[in-house]
Amino acid sequence: MVSLTIDGRKLQAEEGKTILEVARDVGINIPTLCATESISPYGACRLCIVEITRADGRKRLVTSCLYPVEEGMIVQTTSERIVRDRKMLMSLLLARCSEVKEVKEMAKQMGVTESPFAERAKEKCVLCGLCVRACQEVVGASAISLVNRGVDRQVASPFYLQSDACIGCGSCAYICPVNAISMEDKGGKRVLVMPNPEMKKVQFKLKKCKTCGKFWAPEKQIEFIAKKSGTPLTDYECCPDCR
Ligand code: FES
Repeated sequence: MVSLTIDGRKLQAEEGKTILEVARDVGINIPTLCATESISPYGACRLCIVEITRADGRKRLVTSCLYPVEEGMIVQTTSERIVRDRKMLMSLLLARCSEVKEVKEMAKQMGVTESPFAERAKEKCVLCGLCVRACQEVVGASAISLVNRGVDRQVASPFYLQSDACIGCGSCAYICPVNAISMEDKGGKRVLVMPNPEMKKVQFKLKKCKTCGKFWAPEKQIEFIAKKSGTPLTDYECCPDCR
């Protein structure tokens, strides 16, 4: 265990935990856009920055979702410098995603209602990378990735084509914090729409339940699960409700 102070509160924390985890454990709110418990941290949005003073007296800004707690560390989550820098980051994000409801709401909570930076093509994607990490770490498909650099950075599948690795599970859509990826099941098909205009809609045939006739999951996803679990495809003839 290590002893540290966050916003004046003396705490004991398990070694190896990040500042963000420890702060969340005790109900201290640090804004985040790209961190979630079930997926490894990546440090994309930088909104979770905090100011630390280490035991040797040195101060610095760190991303709390990546930085592990240290013995004797003093953490400030809302110092003047932090608030100013977070507002700056939020202004940049607002310039990129000026029409994204979740971004506008988050910006408003930080006192940012308009951005001094030039608007950029009203992007939907905040580039948090959660969809990419969920696809890789949770599903094990690695069908999408973050490509290009700087202002051209985007989420895409190889060559902007429907990836063979994509099973249509929709994890990317479920985890997206700003609903930039949409998913609809209609007429026996699942359609996934990525935020990247260069990518066409991604379509999957849904499996029909042998008993109730309801379409319940993409056939490709069922094949993936059957293969991974070593179970026969015949186990998936019916939907979970009819099994
Ligand atoms: S939550 Fe830490 S960088 Fe996004």
